[in-house]
Amino acid sequence: MKTTIKEAKNYLNQEVTIGGWLHNKRSSGKIAFLQLRDGTGFMQGVVVKAEVSEDTFQLAKNITQESSLFVTGVITEDTRSDLGYEMQVKSIEVIDEAHDYPITPKNHGTEFLMDHRHLWLRSKKQHAVMKIRNEIIRATYEFFNNNGFTKIDPPILTASAPEGTSELFHTKYFDEDAFLSQSGQLYMEAAAMAHGKVFSFGPTFRAEKSKTRRHLIEFWMIEPEMAFYNHDDSLEVQEQYVTHIVQSVLKNCTIELKTLERDTEKLAKVATPFPRISYDDAVTFLKEEGFDDIEWGEDFGAPHETAIANHYDLPVFITNYPTKIKPFYMQPNPENEDTVLCADLIAPEGYGEIIGGSERINDLALMEQRINEHELDAESYSYYLDLRKYGSVPHSGFGLGLERAVAWISGVEHVRETSPFPRLLNRLYP
Ligand code: 4AD
Ligand code: MG
Repeated sequence: MKTTIKEAKNYLNQEVTIGGWLHNKRSSGKIAFLQLRDGTGFMQGVVVKAEVSEDTFQLAKNITQESSLFVTGVITEDTRSDLGYEMQVKSIEVIDEAHDYPITPKNHGTEFLMDHRHLWLRSKKQHAVMKIRNEIIRATYEFFNNNGFTKIDPPILTASAPEGTSELFHTKYFDEDAFLSQSGQLYMEAAAMAHGKVFSFGPTFRAEKSKTRRHLIEFWMIEPEMAFYNHDDSLEVQEQYVTHIVQSVLKNCTIELKTLERDTEKLAKVATPFPRISYDDAVTFLKEEGFDDIEWGEDFGAPHETAIANHYDLPVFITNYPTKIKPFYMQPNPENEDTVLCADLIAPEGYGEIIGGSERINDLALMEQRINEHELDAESYSYYLDLRKYGSVPHSGFGLGLERAVAWISGVEHVRETSPFPRLLNRLYP
């Protein structure tokens, strides 16, 4: 019977064949322990000299790291491993022998590993992070599909810039100039006027010269947009969504979280409602905490966000930032017109902002005024203004950065390990 490591649990005490690779091994004169991997998981194969042919035992002892194999044997219970079972190997067929695999069990530097990202993906930790990423993607579709959202795909080649013009990748579009999308939001607003509640999930690009543990040049963003939702309604969707993805990972990725040695007690605390603190109160708090460098009207840096996050066990919303440090489209706060109806969601444990969201201006005259103030080319926003001309309604939305969410939930230090092939300031290879 041909099966996989993951499915092998259904074949206890039966003989199966699994196609995989040799991850690692150790052996003595009488027994060899093969650490096998097949994409679905990692499993130990035990080869006992007395129970296999002499050829098979020699082969087991001599197999090289990352050689591809078919292994055949009986699946038996193994209570010591996270997996719960192992294979008593009977025979091995080598498919392709690998020589001098570059990533050995010893420690390698990050640059070396990043240069070998195409191979590094095979390692146990990296495999676990990608599985968690996949679970977050699955749970994202589940959440929005279950809550009446329609998935709409905004374009990647665009003529307009939602989040400021300084961080755009330029390209030629025949005789015109075009940019790679830094956010699908403006198109999602149009989609919300057609479908009510919509979400997008796609790649976005920021030509940011930031070299931090939180910044990628290319990242994936989930952008829901909701007609007839005010900003408070949107915050409720955000906290429910984030809680759903955390709970899904806790439920469906127990082996992966263990592999990553993630402190799951911290994740288990994530439940609605999340705390909210206004920007004004956050500035006061930071001053009390001894941050003399922050003045009202300035944006928070990573240390400020971390100080605020450390005050809470849960992700925290920082609401109502000053108008002048936020994009042109945000609805003024009726209680203080120097601020807008927006929030950043800051993850615990120093992972920083994972969501940015706001209520959008729905008044045509105010939107025109903002486009002028921000010196944007009104013509390329003409479609966006139409949304305010033909049946404008209050609406809100947000964007969650997938890689930052994966970094936080997996507990990996740097977002570069949460993207299969990360694009970084100095890295376009592999
Ligand atoms: O806060 P941002 O820039 O918001 C927007 O783009 C809005 N248009 C979203 C919306 O309302 N539809 O980005 C949203 C999120 C951030 O909170 C962060 O998680 C992630 O995208 N993000 C990045 N992730 C990795 N690398 C970068 N350079 C990122 N820039 C933003
Ligand atoms: Mg932001």
